Amino acid sequence: MNNKCEEILEISHVTNRYRDSGAGFFSKSKMTRVLNDVSLTIHRDEIFGLVGESGCGKSTLGKAVLGLIPFEGQIRVNGMEYSRKNRNEFTRCVQAVFQDPLSSLNPRRTIAATLEEPLLAHGIGTPQSRREKAVEMLELVGLDGSYADRLPRDLSGGQRQRVCIGAALMIDPELVIADEATSALDVSVGAQILNLFQEIHDRKDFAMLFISHNLNVVYYLCDRIAVMYRGSIVEMGDAESLYNSPMHPYTRTLLSAIPEIEEGDILSRYGYEETRRESVEDGCDFYHRCPFATEQCRKRPDLTDVLSRESGGQKGREHLVRCWNPVS
Ligand SMILES: Nc1ncnc2c1ncn2[C@@H]1O[C@H](COP(=O)(O)OP(=O)(O)O)[C@@H](O)[C@H]1O
Ligand SMILES: [Mg+2]
Repeated sequence: MNNKCEEILEISHVTNRYRDSGAGFFSKSKMTRVLNDVSLTIHRDEIFGLVGESGCGKSTLGKAVLGLIPFEGQIRVNGMEYSRKNRNEFTRCVQAVFQDPLSSLNPRRTIAATLEEPLLAHGIGTPQSRREKAVEMLELVGLDGSYADRLPRDLSGGQRQRVCIGAALMIDPELVIADEATSALDVSVGAQILNLFQEIHDRKDFAMLFISHNLNVVYYLCDRIAVMYRGSIVEMGDAESLYNSPMHPYTRTLLSAIPEIEEGDILSRYGYEETRRESVEDGCDFYHRCPFATEQCRKRPDLTDVLSRESGGQKGREHLVRCWNPVS
C-alpha cells in the first residue's frame, strides 16, 4: 500500500468546458464553461457535501474526480493523479454510487456476482473468499444473506441501492462518491439509505463526497458542505455554520428551496425581488439575480474565509464565501 495522504481528495483550480453543439455547422463552435476554477479538499474519513441546483456542474465534478472526463487543473486522490498507467490503483482508491441503482446493476447477474465483481476485476481472493465477503457485505448494507443468489429484479429500489453501496465498498475504497444516491428513491426509503451511509461510515474507514441538489439532505449527513452555483463554489464551510448562518444570497435561496420550483419562484418566495440584470462574464456568478448586487459585483469575488475576517481566525472552524457583501 502506498503512503496515506492526510487529504484524501485535493481538487485545485479545476475548470471544465465542452464544445457547444447548439452552434450551427458552419458557425464557429462556442465553448461552454461548466466548472469554473473549483478548488476543495476532503480530509480523510470526512463526509463532504456538494450541493446546488440541477445543471450547476456537480456530476461533472464527480466525473472529473473519477477520471472519466478531461479537465483543466489538478485532482489528486490520495496524492495520485489519474492516468491510464495507474488506473488500477486509482480505482481501488475511489468508487462511486449513482442515482439509479437499476441501471448500475446488470439484470442478468446475481447479487453475489455483482458484489464479487470488483474483487475479481482486481484479482483479489479466491472464489470462496469472494463469496464470503459478498455475504458479509450484504449484512453490512442491511440485506439478508439469502439475497446473494437473487437477481436485481427481485429487489426493491432501496434494496438495489443497498447492493450498489455494497459493491462500491467491496474493495475497501478510501473515497466514495455518492451522486444523488438517494434522489430517485421515495422520501422514507431515501432516509433509510442516508442512515445506512451514516452507519457504514461509522464502521468503516473511508471519506465521502456526497452530491445532492437538496441542502437538507446534505446537512443531515455531512461534516462540511460546498455550495455550487453555475460551476463555481460560492460558499463552503462546516455544516453547522453554513446551514445555520448562510452568508451567500444564493445559499439562502437554496435553503428555502423546494427542488421542483423555478429559480425565480425561489427568489420571490424568499422575499427577493425578481432581479434580472445582464450577467457579466468574469463577474460574480449570481450577479444577474442577486438583489444585493452593486457595481463591485461586476468583478468576480474570491472565496474568502469569513471567520478569520471577522474574528481573527478561529482554529478548526471554516466558513468561506464568494461574495463582496456577504449577508450576516
Ligand atoms: N458534454 C456535454 N455536452 C453538453 N452539455 C454538457 C456536457 N457536459 C455537461 N453539460 C452541461 O453541463 C451542465 C452541468 O451538468 P451536470 O454536471 O450534470 O450538473 P448537475 O449534476 O449539477 O445537475 C448542464 O447544463 C449540462 O447540460
Ligand atoms: Mg448530477
